[in-house]
Amino acid sequence: MKKIIIGVILILTGASLGFCKNKNQYTMKSPNSQIEAVLSNENGLLSYQVFNNGKEILLSSRLGLEFIGEFDLSKGLKVVEVEKSKYDEQWEQPWGETQKVRNHYTQYLYEVKNENYKLNVYFRLFNNGVAFRYEIPKQEGVGSFKMSNELTEFKLAKGDKAWWIPAYDKNSYEHLYKKTSVEQLVDTVHTPLTVELKNGGLVSIHEANLTNYASMCLAPDHQGGLECDLAPWPNGIKVVGKAPFKSPWRTIQIGENAGDLVTNYMILNLNPPCKIKDTSWIKPAKYVGVWWEMHMKKSTWKQGEKHGATTENVKRYIDFASKYGFAGVLAEGWNYGWDGAWYKDGSNFIFDKPVPDFDMTELSKYAKDKGVQIISHHETGGDVANYEDQVEKAFQYCRSNNIDAIKTGHVGQYLNGKHTHYGQFAVNYYRRIVKLAAKYQICLDVHEPIKDTGIRRTWPNMMTREGARGMEFDAWSKDGGNPPEHLTVVPFTRCLAGPFDFTPGIFEMTLPTRPKNQSNMTLAKQLATYILIYSPMHMAADLPENYEGNPALQFILDVPVDWADTKVLDAKLGDRYTVVRKDRNSEDWYLGCATDEEKRTFSQKLSFLDAGAKYVAEVYRDGADAHWKENPKAITIEKIDVTSKSTLKYDLAAGGGLAIRFKKVQ
Ligand code: NOJ
Repeated sequence: MKKIIIGVILILTGASLGFCKNKNQYTMKSPNSQIEAVLSNENGLLSYQVFNNGKEILLSSRLGLEFIGEFDLSKGLKVVEVEKSKYDEQWEQPWGETQKVRNHYTQYLYEVKNENYKLNVYFRLFNNGVAFRYEIPKQEGVGSFKMSNELTEFKLAKGDKAWWIPAYDKNSYEHLYKKTSVEQLVDTVHTPLTVELKNGGLVSIHEANLTNYASMCLAPDHQGGLECDLAPWPNGIKVVGKAPFKSPWRTIQIGENAGDLVTNYMILNLNPPCKIKDTSWIKPAKYVGVWWEMHMKKSTWKQGEKHGATTENVKRYIDFASKYGFAGVLAEGWNYGWDGAWYKDGSNFIFDKPVPDFDMTELSKYAKDKGVQIISHHETGGDVANYEDQVEKAFQYCRSNNIDAIKTGHVGQYLNGKHTHYGQFAVNYYRRIVKLAAKYQICLDVHEPIKDTGIRRTWPNMMTREGARGMEFDAWSKDGGNPPEHLTVVPFTRCLAGPFDFTPGIFEMTLPTRPKNQSNMTLAKQLATYILIYSPMHMAADLPENYEGNPALQFILDVPVDWADTKVLDAKLGDRYTVVRKDRNSEDWYLGCATDEEKRTFSQKLSFLDAGAKYVAEVYRDGADAHWKENPKAITIEKIDVTSKSTLKYDLAAGGGLAIRFKKVQ
């Protein structure tokens, strides 16, 4: 790994600071000076502002922490020392949407005191964003503490428009995003929260390295301000801790357009480097599995006549995977626990014992002989106490059956009947499982997860997760499924947090066994989804029989899930998105494009291709009369010769898209 670190540390005190605007204001700059933040220390309080190109994008917003008892870091605060340092490093992701990541920032550490206590506040200014965190240093009189509130605010200007989902509604981030002026927000919302600024550009407010802390939701003050709202423990306390203690980073990613947010790697940079020495066992992969057929009501998770995960049926998927080169076969409903109301009571789940008609020993051997791996499934029904009681044994069981990837599930409003999916309990639970999985060399795909805050940098076995409305909503959602707009929204909202197991690739969109629902996109857009949504594990979610004989399957077989580079060519949140990604293991590029319910024209110069090189573009585009509802399957597949000087122009159907492989001619 190539690493360049320039670390210049300047320790400055009080008003002698070069970056001190006046006695109580400290101006901070990003390495290229485009982004500035100002920390103000007036009347014993701390606040900050953020500027981009001289424009104020976050108005004066409060900082601070409140505790139960005498310990107090909310008032009487005085900055006593400031340390400035610079950092510039390039590191490599073992897998990812890009291989090389530059971590380049200016850090300002403020040592703050009040009459009795000490607090450190770290700011990092990147060329594309600002991050800050609190540290409670070791100090006399402070041991264990209970935090009642974090006072952090993000004050936006009236008229800025937020794309939001509600924080305390019952589903685990599984909502459609709505767009509302920040002063008209009524709900407390989740992050990442993407905001279109009325004076141009966008910001995404989120957090990085959420460890041993409660998840930050944002509560509106009805004036445009958003206040940090930490998901509480059942007794109302927000965070329990012991000094020394660090909060997660609060992050403000800044872009001129929505595409800039997609290629902003600040969240990853704010997480500690990889803790797994040898990552060679962690492999991005495409998978199929016994899954959609249950959502289609063709088979069941529970035992009985229609049981889906039988030895025979799983062998059928293994044969299909082996024939087409899919690495994994997911089998849901393989174990005990599904027979009752598991979504209300997960205590009957057993994680190392298959039901009688699923022969794990035979299947793991069968899969191995065919060069395929079984992906196991651990649905907990939210009873994570039951899961943790068994998890070590369950991971050992996976290892002895050649399983190195597990999809976990946490259906239900609460964990263990009382903890939200977002509080400190949940954060710590999810983290414990990731670490334990790493010990057993197991990769994770977590459903009903805690939101991603960049943990994959530290623990790259935490590969992908749900935490949004995935394809399954098309199967059974009472509102008819994800609207065509969905794929022009989630890439700039949910996906800014990290990989998303969307489970794309439905070829039989009209869903004969679910007549009230439909997968609301054209076939070309189904293919494009593999590029539009980044995940190192992507499912080909439809049934084998719906793929066999369809020439569009070739794109799913070809498309990689590990990339050397990602570039956004065109992006308008809620309208359209075009992104290209370069394969990590070849010279090929792949393009994904989506429109919402509007027909549009795609017109794009291919200047991202290597100059002077020749490529064959394998194009999967909407057929002439394609339409997301009326005629979703119409597709035109063709090959044409292109170079970096070519321009491609195509019609996108309403709810349509475009997927292209650019194969370099050697
Ligand atoms: C919800 C998950 O998102 C889905 O993928 C899974 O099939 C069911 N829970 C059952 O675990």
